[in-house]
Amino acid sequence: MTWLITGGAGYIGAHVALTMAAAGERVVVLDDVSSGIPHRLPADIALVRGSVLDRELLDRTLAEHGVTGVVHLAARKQVGESVEKPLLYYRENVYGLTVLLEAVAAAGVRRFLFSSSAAVYGVPEAELIPEDTPCAPINPYGETKLAGEWLVRAAGRAHGFSTASLRYFNVAGAARPELADTGVFNIVPMFFDRITRGEAPRIFGADYPTPDGTCVRDYIHVADLADAHLSVARALTARDEQTDLTFNIGRGEGVSVRELAELVGEITGSALAPVIEPRRPGDAAKAVASSDLIAKELGWTAVRSVREMVASAWEGWLLRHPEAAGS
Ligand SMILES: NC(=O)c1ccc[n+]([C@@H]2O[C@H](COP(=O)([O-])OP(=O)(O)OC[C@H]3O[C@@H](n4cnc5c(N)ncnc54)[C@H](O)[C@@H]3O)[C@@H](O)[C@H]2O)c1
Repeated sequence: MTWLITGGAGYIGAHVALTMAAAGERVVVLDDVSSGIPHRLPADIALVRGSVLDRELLDRTLAEHGVTGVVHLAARKQVGESVEKPLLYYRENVYGLTVLLEAVAAAGVRRFLFSSSAAVYGVPEAELIPEDTPCAPINPYGETKLAGEWLVRAAGRAHGFSTASLRYFNVAGAARPELADTGVFNIVPMFFDRITRGEAPRIFGADYPTPDGTCVRDYIHVADLADAHLSVARALTARDEQTDLTFNIGRGEGVSVRELAELVGEITGSALAPVIEPRRPGDAAKAVASSDLIAKELGWTAVRSVREMVASAWEGWLLRHPEAAGS
């Protein structure tokens, strides 16, 4: 198998590309470097610079590298931006996916893994969220991920390739400091950003119906997430018949925002106590995955702790923000 990893210069994509390559899979990356960083990839992984909207480039790349499977991570991923620019999100995440699937079908690619998100569930009520929970996204980003799942599954069935949609929960950590997330859109880098500026980390809402009143989330180490991609890629490769899989990727363990803030304080050595701000619209009180399905079907479970996530993310943060040491 040769795998095309779209978005492979990104935070998660680079972890996936390196993990699959280290496991002996042939990989090639396609990335428009709109938010990706080419230096995350070693010289022996080919990087094709360009967009998934470029059909000609896709046809050429699939043919030249003899691609037989695709892991599609390239996307826009900021919820707030998706509310302001829904057309951009539908264009990049849904139309871009359509162009890629047309190229995949034409080239006879046999396997397709799609980066989905817990955002497809919207604001679920369940204690633990299994994959058959009704999907009701509450923002354009989540809508593009749900529409993406439908597109991928329908195209796979019609054109005879196997598919998997992986619904990531809250991704954090880094396998190596230079692979860390450089954005400040997820909670761990948001906390680091505040601490580095000498400002108290913010907690949005402490009056939720949860044990300590703050929102509860399911954090997954990006290295575990990358391992999950390898497991799914190999499972699809091993099956001859056309298959569609949908898996949550989480730890099945809730951690409150307050608990996370305390861990961040301990690991960074910051004495800044978190401040409580009003709730943000659209935040579910609790979003924790049931990860039983992938454990049962593929034997994959996450092995890295939330402490490892925060500690490795902090090492990555210090690499780019040395001034944060001792803050
Ligand atoms: N980070 C999270 O917590 C999280 C959670 C759930 C799902 N996801 C999904 O995981 C995927 C990767 O996210 P990430 O956190 O690594 O983000 P990222 O921004 O670091 O990576 C996205 C990559 O895709 C590239 N890209 C964007 N548009 C492109 C296009 N049209 N053509 C080619 N390349 C393009 C970017 O340059 C970047 O390298 C996304 O699909 C995202 O929606 C992320």
